[in-house]
Amino acid sequence: MKADLIVGIQWGDEGKGKIVDRLAKEYDMVCRSQGGHNAGHTIWVDGVKFALHLIPSGVLNPKAINVVGNGVVLSPESIIKEMTQFEGLEGRLFISDKAHLNLKYHSLIDQAREKLKGDKAIGTTGKGIGPAYSDKINRVGMRVGELLDPVKLCASIMEYFAQNREIFDVLAIETPNAAELLVELEGYKEKLAPFITDTTQMVWRALDSENKRVLLEGAQGTMLDIDHGTYPYVTSSSTVSAGACTGLGINPKDIGKVTGIVKAYCTRVGNGPFPSEDLGEDGARLGKQGHEFGTTTGRARRCGWFDAIATKYASRLNGCDELALMKLDVLDGFAEVKVCVAYELDGKEIDYLPSNLEDVKPIYKSFPGWTNSVGARSLEELPQAARDYIKTIEEITKTKVGIISTSPEREDTIIL
Ligand code: IMP
Repeated sequence: MKADLIVGIQWGDEGKGKIVDRLAKEYDMVCRSQGGHNAGHTIWVDGVKFALHLIPSGVLNPKAINVVGNGVVLSPESIIKEMTQFEGLEGRLFISDKAHLNLKYHSLIDQAREKLKGDKAIGTTGKGIGPAYSDKINRVGMRVGELLDPVKLCASIMEYFAQNREIFDVLAIETPNAAELLVELEGYKEKLAPFITDTTQMVWRALDSENKRVLLEGAQGTMLDIDHGTYPYVTSSSTVSAGACTGLGINPKDIGKVTGIVKAYCTRVGNGPFPSEDLGEDGARLGKQGHEFGTTTGRARRCGWFDAIATKYASRLNGCDELALMKLDVLDGFAEVKVCVAYELDGKEIDYLPSNLEDVKPIYKSFPGWTNSVGARSLEELPQAARDYIKTIEEITKTKVGIISTSPEREDTIIL
């Protein structure tokens, strides 16, 4: 079997949670391959709210196995807290022994470095993601499997603290002593040991011999990718579909259908270029109607119009077979709805994404607004202007729209 993949193709927060929740029913295994607790989905099931940061969304399907892959940076504190929302996770949640640990000192480094950067700050979530990935690449990271021997891990971390003493001092970060650290690590081992395993083998078995349907759940979005996003205003992982391979130990041939998740408009949290951002009334209205506040940090998201050029780029990068267009209903009630269909760069019109987005200006196509897409469950129920809007998106991005979401409710979804 091949694994299907869903990937955010804007700046994150595209509404992946609703789609994965819907799809999770059809899959036997749901896997996370990158990122950490900087990600956040809120999923409502029968009026009950679940906040997910590290646990794959398949947890809401009692029959699905959930895998946290080696490409994730895992905060034990965060996942343990998250796990308290669910019962009977043993046998349903597995964490790669090769995933890297994201410990408290990583968050403290993240926050201190952001402060030092002043107006050049990335606007990170402050969750230690960059420092944990830096340690991995620097080959001084600690892995989840090491939690199984807290005494040895404690000694390694104390050695790391000693080697980096001057940095901690400059950043005014206090590190725990060995006794405090050991208690913390033993607590993590007690809660997490039953879930730690070699997930690579598990995923291979699921695909190769058990004929399981596997869903790969991306976190963040393509424009935040460490290589292909708006560097340096990006996260520290490979958010594109290729990241699922390194982050789980599968190969490109293991991936089947790729669905790119986009909102019917754009949002971004944190700093960095955002060509179609609307700083006026329309942007404020999108934020209000779309409830655009970060799940992880509560920050107000920056809002703007759908960027078809960035989406075309992201669709090609990820190999999207189709797009899932989320939150179409949020556009209800605008007098005019716009799509960015080209950029202006140095006085010239371009139809591609240049390496540096700082200097581009958006060129828009306008559509008359509509009022009643909310709750539509078939294409025929959508106003003609909304259908024209979708057709333009398909033409420019060269990708068909396969799913349209018209309210937060599971059933208010058009499958084409
Ligand atoms: P970091 O991932 O915390 O290092 O933050 C780097 C950038 O990615 C910042 O602009 C964050 O706001 C953004 N970011 C990280 N995770 C998410 C997410 O799940 N949704 C949207 N933006 C995110």
